[in-house]
Parts: sequence; C-alpha cells; structure tokens
Amino acid sequence: MNLWGGRFTKPTNQLVYDFNASIKFDKTFAGQDIKGSIGHVKMLTKQEILTQEEGQLIEKTLKEILNEVENETLEIDESFEDIHSFVESTLIDRIGDTGKKLHTGRSRNDQVALDMRLYTKDQIEMLNTLLIDLLKTIHEIMKEHVDTIMPGFTHLQKAQPITLAHHMGAYFEMFKRDQSRLHDIYERMDYCPLGSGALAGTTYPLDREYSADILGFKGPCLNSIDGVSDRDYLIELLSAMSTMMMHMSRLSEEMIIWNTNEYQFIDLDDTFSTGSSIMPQKKNPDICELIRGKTGRVYGALMGFLTTMKGLPLAYNKDMQEDKEMYFDALNTTKGCLQLLSDMLKSTTFNKDKMKKSATGGFTNATDAADYLVNKGVPFRDAHGIIGQLVLYAISQNKDLDELSLEEFKNISDVFEDDVYQAIDVNTCVNKRNTIGACGQEMMKKVIALNEEYLKQF
Ligand code: ARG
Repeated sequence: MNLWGGRFTKPTNQLVYDFNASIKFDKTFAGQDIKGSIGHVKMLTKQEILTQEEGQLIEKTLKEILNEVENETLEIDESFEDIHSFVESTLIDRIGDTGKKLHTGRSRNDQVALDMRLYTKDQIEMLNTLLIDLLKTIHEIMKEHVDTIMPGFTHLQKAQPITLAHHMGAYFEMFKRDQSRLHDIYERMDYCPLGSGALAGTTYPLDREYSADILGFKGPCLNSIDGVSDRDYLIELLSAMSTMMMHMSRLSEEMIIWNTNEYQFIDLDDTFSTGSSIMPQKKNPDICELIRGKTGRVYGALMGFLTTMKGLPLAYNKDMQEDKEMYFDALNTTKGCLQLLSDMLKSTTFNKDKMKKSATGGFTNATDAADYLVNKGVPFRDAHGIIGQLVLYAISQNKDLDELSLEEFKNISDVFEDDVYQAIDVNTCVNKRNTIGACGQEMMKKVIALNEEYLKQF
C-alpha cells in the first residue's frame, strides 16, 4: 500500500516493494511521527491553510491514533511501505477526505527528517539519564574507597600505589566528558526541519518558527536542502556512543582482570556472573565480556553510516533510509550496557586487603625511594640509578625494598637513614601525593566534593 502510484501503469514488483519498505524498523518512531503531524496540522490551521474544523478533526483523530499506538490497541500494519503511510492511511480511513489534507505543504523527506530528530532528542535524554546514574554509582564507590590502596599500572605492570577512589575517578572524568558531548550534540541538532518540503521549501505560507516552537525546538533549520539531507547529528551521536562504549569496554576489561583468580581484586556478584556447562568451579564475567564485545557493533554502526553518507549528492537520497537499523541497534546496545555496567558496579565487592597487598609488593615504591634520595640532596638522575641498583639487589634476595635491612640500603648508598622505611611505606606513597588530580587522600576528598557539586545539577 503506497502513498503514490498516480503516474505508474504497473504495480511494483513484490521484491522491490519489500526491499524498499521501511515500516519494519521505522515503526520504532511511530509516536514521534504522529506528534510531528499534530504539530504540522496545528500550524496549517493557525495559518488558515486548513479551516478550524478540518484542523480540529485531524488533530483529534491523530491524538486518538497516538493513544492507541502507545497503549498497543492499534496494531501497526506492516504491509504499508513506511510508518508515514500507515499513519496517514489510518487517518483517512477514520475521517475520509479531510484526512487527505494532512500532508499539505509537507514531504516525506522533511517528515522523516523531523521524526528522526524528535526521536534522537528523546534518546539523548535517555542516554543522559543512564550516564548520570553510572556517574553516581562511580561517585559512591569513590567516596567509599578514598583509603583503599591498590597498585596503579602502566603496561599492565605494577607502577605506583594509588587508591581505588583515584582509579575510579579516572572513569568519572571519562563519563563526565561523555555526558558533556551529549549536551553539545543536543544543542547543535535542536533545529526543526519541518517545512523544508521535498528540498526547496513550499509555496504555502507556513509558519516554520511556530512549528519549531510547538514541537520543542530552538528554531527552524535555515536551509531547506540541508534540512532534509543533514544527518551529521546521527554521526555525532554514533561517535559519542562509540566513545562511551570504548570507556565502558576499558572498565569491563579491567574488571575481567581484577576478577581473575590471580588478582582477586574484586568479586562479581553471583547475580552478574554466569557458569560453565562443564567446569563446575567456573564463575565467569560474561557481562563485562559482552560489554567489551558489543563495543564493536557500535563502532560498526558509526563506520557503516559514515560510509553510507560519504558520496551522497544533495538533497534527499534513499540511501539515507539506512540511517535507521544500525543506529537503533547502537542506541539499544549503548543504553543496555550503561544500565548493566552501573548495576554490576553497585553489586561488586572490592577486596581491599588483596588490593593493598598487591600494591605493597612489586617495587611500586621505587619512585618514592628515589624521591627520598632527592630530598636528601641527590640529583634525580643519580637517585634513579641508585634505586635501580637497589631493586636489582632486592630481586636477587627475593625481597621487597622495605624488607631490606638498613645495612643493605647503606651498602648501595650511605645517604639512606632509618627514616627511609617511613618514606617508602605504601601509605606514605599515596598520601604524600596531593597535587591537583593526584591520589592523596586530601586531594581526592577535594575532587569528590567537586564531583558532588557537579552531580547536583541533575
Ligand atoms: N523511509 C524513508 C526514509 O527513511 C522516508 C522518506 C522517503 N522519501 C522519499 N522521497 N522516498 O528515509
């Protein structure tokens, strides 16, 4: 069932019809399509392009249809070409010829552009809510673990002691940037394409500012060709979601490592773990692995759609219908992962003792030992060399630095005194680091207070 056909003498080939049809996926934004039509009809009525009676009848019937779609008493008939045809036909079935006036001064090109924008605005809000929840979860972990010492890594080798609050604070910053990217995208895309027509605007005296206003936009987009062919904001959002997924994937990867028998830094809750069909002892971090794995499909949607758009001449081309399926999938994937990651973190146990033990071994205090010498007047480069020798010696004795006797220290350099033990104690290593952004307890508390302020605005 088509909205067109007048200039055709033969029916569409069935395969062509099926290939071309989009209702199976554009029914996703049925609500936005109907709301967009209600806005359009209000404007047509205000401009006296439709009479009051016509406008009121169409609006009332569209609201009924919206209601029925929302409470699922009206089934969307997938034999229609797209959601726009289904809604318009349903309207005409109910009110006859008056319904045929709805599409006055409008094309499916500006209609679909409007639907996608309305839909995307709703989706950005949902993503935002989920991101804020994740940020709040991380914030709670940070507050609880200002004193939880763990090793920080570079090259996945133990580097220097930090705290769990500090480590999670890095993710707080990443997700905070993700949140601000959402905000920026929303600001840039918040312009209404309705009234662009097929590409050239229309001859009717449409009030585009009014339509934009009642549909909740900042204003109308200023070029009708761009109005129907701009999909930049989808690419921006796919890119922002890819970055979110990348951040979630990095944290998931760390949780997988931390959950291993070798590390035992965390225990994933039973409710967020899965078992093996053959190995009875297994408790697997499948959710972390799936978040890491699903990152690929969101990147895929971004690359796919960038490629779709790259050669398109202005204005509308049917290629653009390909903006939907992978985009919807990317949105569902990202929203699902945000929710699961947040809930999983809430239920995770952090094993403070194991973390601290790990931070204490493996020469994580070697930099602080060098700094100790610097404080006693040794130039840093020389201090670095001395501690290098000390580490080599300690490895040969199968000891950590703080297990060496003062005599052993002095054999390498007589600058060492008894106060070295205090200086290289893991607690000292952490808490002496109090410059902005560092892991020391005092600084962490300041950052947590700033984060608390930031979260208050939501
Ligand atoms: N299903 C189409 C899309 O998603 C709607 C616009 C159709 N416009 C057209 N001129 N065929 O892009």
